[in-house]
Amino acid sequence: MSDLLTLGVLASGRGSNFQSIINSIESGSLSAKIAVLVTDKSDAYAIERAKKHGIEALITKPKDFPDKNAYYSHIAEELKKRGVGLVILAGFMRVIGKALVEQYRNKIMNIHPALLPSFPGLHGHKDAIDYGVKISGCTVHFVDEGVDTGPIIIQAAVPAYHDDTEDTLSERILKYEHKIFPYAIKLYSEGKISVEGRKVAVKDNREDSVIINPSL
Ligand code: GRF
Repeated sequence: MSDLLTLGVLASGRGSNFQSIINSIESGSLSAKIAVLVTDKSDAYAIERAKKHGIEALITKPKDFPDKNAYYSHIAEELKKRGVGLVILAGFMRVIGKALVEQYRNKIMNIHPALLPSFPGLHGHKDAIDYGVKISGCTVHFVDEGVDTGPIIIQAAVPAYHDDTEDTLSERILKYEHKIFPYAIKLYSEGKISVEGRKVAVKDNREDSVIINPSL
């Protein structure tokens, strides 16, 4: 089917979010196809997952390019070549370059393991624990030029306990990452997401963008 949403996934590590998207597609709950996994790490476990599911894995490293602009222009080109309509950052541990953001404005989604705008950056779990918040969670957002600053699509909240460690909190949050990321992609594929300035509206059911589970 030619109008099937084509995804390009960027990941640097274990790829459990990548897997949750693969699972949603394979189970039929998400109508989309994954054209390519792009990774900056030759030993990313995400590559094994791609192989297992017949998805092309493209390893491309910044050190092989003269600068950041050339690197992200190259990635944008590779994605375009494969007809990618939506780019998914599933644990891609780099700040995306302008060259890619501009080619895919409001067409790049990231998942962050905290309730943005609190605790952006690489250490969301630790920063939330150190601050002593009682509620944390995860956020799916569009990517702009900043670090975790783009328009928010969906958030899920989970409790944070005073004896949480990074491991216990991240495990609690990860379960929800695996639900809301494929769900955000599904809403997008159904044309239910619109960006108005820095705000995102979800059509039909505004509750779709808020997931709260105090009983975890
Ligand atoms: C997740 O915690 C995600 O929120 C963050 O990076 C981690 C990736 O985990 N952006 P995985 O590789 O998807 O298992």
